[in-house]
Amino acid sequence: MFLQTKTKKDMSKIEQLSEIMDSISASRDIRELLQASLNKTLKALSSERGSIFMAGEDGEELSLKCANDNNDLKMDQIRRKLGEGVVGKVAKEKRSLLVKDIRQDRTLTISNMHHDYRTTSFLCVPILAGMKLIGVISITENNTGKPYSEEDLKFLEIVAGSIGLKIEKSKLLCEVEKIKKKAETDGKFTELGKFSSGISHELNNPLDGVVRYVNLALNTIEEGPARGYLMEAKSGLIRIVNIVRSLLELSRRNKNSNLKMADVNETMEHSIELAMNCATHKTVDIKKDLHKDLPMIPDMGLESIFSNILKNAVDALGATGSIEVKTARNNGFIEISIRDTGCGMPQEHINRIFEPFFTTKEMSKGVGLGLAICDDIVKRYNGRIQVSSQMDKGTAFVIQLPLKDNA
Ligand SMILES: Nc1ncnc2c1ncn2[C@@H]1O[C@H](COP(=O)(O)OP(=O)(O)O)[C@@H](O)[C@H]1O
Ligand SMILES: [Mg+2]
Repeated sequence: MFLQTKTKKDMSKIEQLSEIMDSISASRDIRELLQASLNKTLKALSSERGSIFMAGEDGEELSLKCANDNNDLKMDQIRRKLGEGVVGKVAKEKRSLLVKDIRQDRTLTISNMHHDYRTTSFLCVPILAGMKLIGVISITENNTGKPYSEEDLKFLEIVAGSIGLKIEKSKLLCEVEKIKKKAETDGKFTELGKFSSGISHELNNPLDGVVRYVNLALNTIEEGPARGYLMEAKSGLIRIVNIVRSLLELSRRNKNSNLKMADVNETMEHSIELAMNCATHKTVDIKKDLHKDLPMIPDMGLESIFSNILKNAVDALGATGSIEVKTARNNGFIEISIRDTGCGMPQEHINRIFEPFFTTKEMSKGVGLGLAICDDIVKRYNGRIQVSSQMDKGTAFVIQLPLKDNA
């Protein structure tokens, strides 16, 4: 009779466990996952209170992410340092804790430890993925009035194990998605490089001829519909010329032989001149703050980086505005920043500006390769390019080129 009851009890525990596993694998985000597992575990262990703390990025501090008796507002502000309180101790040692009666427990000598709990028995288990700490789950206030058992602890450890695995798995999936997306963009770019080197040379000469003849025709033709058609044709041609030029630039850089050394400031001065040639009908105030003592670095396309960013800055300005250019030496990097007081851009554009062919400009102005080229060149330097932008305020590009690899 007794055996039968025990088996029944075990069965219902297994069922409860499998229900928790199901809800863990079905949940769509971490908060939902934590809440569902906590609620179901409390029910399975006939307990009133519980909480889940999650470890931060540095693994030094945990913050409360889920509790059945706290309102959401306080949630993230409740923190435990590694080693602090019961939760911090379990996190630090990565070892589960079953306390049957806190009053009798000699191992928990820290006086304020039982603050986290109202009753004398509790369970506290680390959530791990392998040996990596993800968080800590605690359960207390056993409704049965009895202390928790070894079986209860095992149960909670199994739940914690699956939470850990699921969280680690979703983090990995997220990384894989990011890498996939990046590989797609990079792949598109490499293909583009190969393709462009073949085709752009073929296109360049005949295109020059066509542009010349259209210009000649425009010089000789009288006002009238035919002139209008030619003007249309010319604006289409300018776009094609721009694309071919960008593609040529790309293919030239792919042949990376006999690199020359470049002076960053001189290249910047020259790029500013080039960009200002495009700034007709605009009053642009250029502010320069160029570091006097920068080492020379190999030229892998510095001028392309600077002029593409400067041309974009000019395009972003209205009739008047300023562009601030700064070069500096900073912790083993040459740092170049270019800021404009132009139109700025929304986050959804910022996310895409380095994609080849992403442009918001009209046909004759942009083909969307400028920043893709910049990004590619900066990568060759093993450098970084960062952008920050505020709508109607302006945009800043900061480029860091490591001296270790390049000086
Ligand atoms: N300084 C800037 N201010 C506002 N938007 C910018 C700036 N620089 C780049 N952008 C945005 O990024 C897009 C991509 O730039 P880019 O790759 O140079 O291509 P393109 O200039 O041919 O459009 C631009 O069309 C524009 O929307
Ligand atoms: Mg551009």
